[in-house]
Amino acid sequence: MKNEAEQLMKKLTLEEKIGMIHGAELFRTAPVERLNIPALSMSDGPMGVRQEFEPNSWKCIGDNDDYVSYLPCNSALASTWNRELAGITGSVLGEEARGRGKDVILGPGVNIKRSPLCGRNFEYFSEDPFLTKEMAVNYIKGVQNWDVAACVKHFAANNQETQRLWVDVKIDEKALREIYFPAFYDAVKKADVYTIMGAYNKIYGKHCCQSDFLLNDVLRKEWNYDGVIISDWGGVHDTEEAANSELDIEMSVTNNFDDYYMAQPLIKLIKEGKISEDVINNKVVHILILMKRLHMLDGKRKSGAYNTKEHQKQALEVARESVVLLKNTKGTLPLSKEKTKELLIIGENADMKHALGGGSAEIKALYEITPLMGITALLGGNTKVTYVKGYCQDPKEELQDINWQETSLENGGGEVVKIKTDNKALAEYRKTLRQEAIAKAKEFSQVIFIGGLNHEYDCEGNDREDMKLPYEQDLLIEELLNVNPNTTVVMVGGSPVEMGRWINRADSLLWSWYAGMEGGKALAEVLFGKINPSGKLPESFYKTHTDCSAHSLGNFAEKETADYAEGVFVGYRYLDTYNIEPEFCFGHGLSYTSFEYKEANIIKDKNEDKTYVECSITNTGNVSGKETIQVYLAPKNHKEDEPIQQLKGFEKVLINPSETVKIKVEIEGYSEDMEVRVGSSSRDIRIVL
Ligand code: BGC
Repeated sequence: MKNEAEQLMKKLTLEEKIGMIHGAELFRTAPVERLNIPALSMSDGPMGVRQEFEPNSWKCIGDNDDYVSYLPCNSALASTWNRELAGITGSVLGEEARGRGKDVILGPGVNIKRSPLCGRNFEYFSEDPFLTKEMAVNYIKGVQNWDVAACVKHFAANNQETQRLWVDVKIDEKALREIYFPAFYDAVKKADVYTIMGAYNKIYGKHCCQSDFLLNDVLRKEWNYDGVIISDWGGVHDTEEAANSELDIEMSVTNNFDDYYMAQPLIKLIKEGKISEDVINNKVVHILILMKRLHMLDGKRKSGAYNTKEHQKQALEVARESVVLLKNTKGTLPLSKEKTKELLIIGENADMKHALGGGSAEIKALYEITPLMGITALLGGNTKVTYVKGYCQDPKEELQDINWQETSLENGGGEVVKIKTDNKALAEYRKTLRQEAIAKAKEFSQVIFIGGLNHEYDCEGNDREDMKLPYEQDLLIEELLNVNPNTTVVMVGGSPVEMGRWINRADSLLWSWYAGMEGGKALAEVLFGKINPSGKLPESFYKTHTDCSAHSLGNFAEKETADYAEGVFVGYRYLDTYNIEPEFCFGHGLSYTSFEYKEANIIKDKNEDKTYVECSITNTGNVSGKETIQVYLAPKNHKEDEPIQQLKGFEKVLINPSETVKIKVEIEGYSEDMEVRVGSSSRDIRIVL
């Protein structure tokens, strides 16, 4: 393949080659029609294929043929702990991308959730590198099965939005390699990812998109990566550095395409003999190899399809397994459809659509079932459902003509969002909404509150200031639980929120991520027991953000240097080692049934050079359910510089009532000086070996 690509490259003029290595439109490179080399067409993003923009402006074309399937966000997907569903999600995305004529889909985002405040966390899988990579590998394979390249992003340590274009990440290499690299490494080694996107930020003083260390030493030399490296949009800052680095394609958000660093300025430097044409040749060869991999040059390409019934079904399947039952102290849930004659639903998120928000991950969804619609559709006409808003978000500023992305390179690319509290009229209005909701709640025997966050907070270019619930929801929930303890709380969001003010009084609590077009239906099915919840938290739900190591040991949302002083102590690795109580721990998620763990053994397979835990699990309740068996390795002689335990294996299995299933879980990196902990969450360890 390489040979053929080299031969083809030799036929290209310098200008033609340059056209292939930078954006000639906002989401496309230039074709070489003379030699039948097409443009490379790219599109965001992780939750579906983004709408069409004009070639050289951020104006949406606005046609009606770019509605697509809206998929659960990566946090939701990770919450399923189901590798097969990751493959299915990738496959839906790949097929839709191909159906829309795309060559590269700009996802998945595999950055580690270092702090709960990062505005893009909903696009990412987890705080844990093992869970992240296990999901990412299948996702990428699923996409690429459709002759579409996945573009795993953002390499590397892109963990805050504040000053994302300029912030310099100060991190020790151990942490980089153990926490922030593994998902990228496996994307290269196990998923054969065709393209990688460089990050906006700097590491060790160099911008990631032109970093010799990241792109040359790590990706190409150490990992032997021969795919295409694409910059983030506006992530390049210097012609010479970019050209001489292993970056292959420069993309940006402005429409002065000829002025891009790897456009005319590069031609000039080559003509002056300051940069060798060989570096360009290498880039073009990478791109031509990619085109061959995608069958772009031989006419044998899959055609794809979008908005199929099958995709909608698959989106529902993922959404169902993504809902996390955080609390069910008195067994309030599931509710009974038959017994619920009247139901009060409160909260703006019950009736809010989220697809078209969040930044580049926005989706023009063919449809989106809200929780309210999901619940009323499930209950049908025999139940009287009453809905009141209870709270409201801040009024939207005047709709602007320009898309945020057009100006996304200004002010360093991102900042902390501040909750507006100085608007008296708004405060009054919220009070009215609250009073109305409280009064109604007294009249009903069953209330469901559906609140949380939205893409004002979970959004590219934003970091949250803290984990507090916005829009005075705490006040409302506290009062609701006072007047009607029979209130089930549902949170919708992309990052955890503080719950301390009311959590002890809430008997039942469900968490739903942005769960795609069928999210509301899935939630309703869980609430009313048509689906037994099986989601488990892919991240720690801190009581407050200062319990997170990025804030207590390192710093976050700093403008110049983000100091990752916490090293490898990210998420539960920090909480568990330093004995800090989270609100809900990593891996936590309840079921409507219960599981008993027994008879676990370690099995070494010498032929395969693999180690497994084999464990018997019995469903001791009355309904079928899926359980995720989690395996943590803990060093027997714990040293100060290592986490007390780390996730190194998991499997999800369906078990019927009274049935016992023997399950084999592969453990990564086992050695005899490790204790093996088998459990239902990071803090619910059932067997120690
Ligand atoms: C984001 C990328 C995205 C790109 C193209 C950037 O702002 O960081 O994740 O793929 O824009 O929209």
